[in-house]
Amino acid sequence: MAKIAVFASGNGSNFEAIASKLQGTLHRIEFLLCNKRGARVIERAKKFGIPVYTVDYRKAEREKVEEEIIGLVEKHRIDLIVLAGWMKILTPHFTERYRKRILNIHPALLPKYPGTNAIERSYRAGDMELGITIHFVDSGVDTGPIILQKSFQRNGKETLTEVEEHIHRMEHLYYPEVVKKLLDDIGDSNE
Ligand code: GRF
Repeated sequence: MAKIAVFASGNGSNFEAIASKLQGTLHRIEFLLCNKRGARVIERAKKFGIPVYTVDYRKAEREKVEEEIIGLVEKHRIDLIVLAGWMKILTPHFTERYRKRILNIHPALLPKYPGTNAIERSYRAGDMELGITIHFVDSGVDTGPIILQKSFQRNGKETLTEVEEHIHRMEHLYYPEVVKKLLDDIGDSNE
């Protein structure tokens, strides 16, 4: 058995895919952390009966908010932190503390197109090979050791929406698989 915390800021489709995958296993999402009031991901967590914590970066300095987050992670003895559309930069203090224990998914083939709007930027650049990257988080933006990349070839006629849908389908398939596999490994070593 292993426990994760998912950090998400918005829609939460990856959160939901992971929550579904872990249902009926010994692993669990111990809590969702969200920094946006009213985000759709909060509704999704409630549907699964997963506790939600919110933090407000507008009310305190980043370091203070992170101390609050570290408190939650320690209190709940979280094995793995899973970023799923988490839009806040984590400081090196945080990423070093949880080195190789924070995962992220990015909707492009890193190191190409780090940062926001990656799908649109790769689409508009005319790249014929697009894809996703799942990686450990380090102190950079969308850097850190790559765990899995999956790509597909465009035919050049797809709309941006179609490409986005394709990429999200890939995310929902592979991110839960990678999370589950890492949790199985952690679970084995926890016993
Ligand atoms: C995903 O495309 C993910 O790759 C990126 O943020 C998006 C989150 O989508 N990091 P959702 O909130 O899981 O629907």
